[in-house]
Amino acid sequence: PAVHVINGPNLNLLGVREPSIYGTATLDDIKTRLAELCAARGVDLVFRQSNHEGDLVDWIQEAGRAGAPVILNAGAYTHTSIALYDAIKGAGVTVVEVHLSNVHARESFRQHSFISPAARGVIAGFGPASYVLAFAALFEK
Ligand code: DQA
Repeated sequence: PAVHVINGPNLNLLGVREPSIYGTATLDDIKTRLAELCAARGVDLVFRQSNHEGDLVDWIQEAGRAGAPVILNAGAYTHTSIALYDAIKGAGVTVVEVHLSNVHARESFRQHSFISPAARGVIAGFGPASYVLAFAALFEK
């Protein structure tokens, strides 16, 4: 089995970006943690980040072709992107939507997600552990 972890805009800045909201762990730290979990379970890890919406669409389609579930932090595209919703639906892919921050406790514009209706489930508010919990949701028996 494999899991594709897809990260959207500005997540390359984790660690320096608004640390009071997003913490001090970097995206590389999160990748390292997931790589450990994957190694322990014999799961292949594809871990990516892009600031460009179309890359995220391409990678969701790719996961669909591979039959791999996706852990998706779409960043701000969560709140704007019908294209990502369509990609998830079109690819028929299992998606766990994740957010580091509790988007429901923040600005009102973060409280609507175009991803959620297409997602298998949503995990928000636990920092890097949101990704770990998403992995557990997919692979813990
Ligand atoms: C985020 C929450 C989004 O609202 C924001 O635009 C992000 C990060 C999170 O992980 O908490 O870029 O997805």
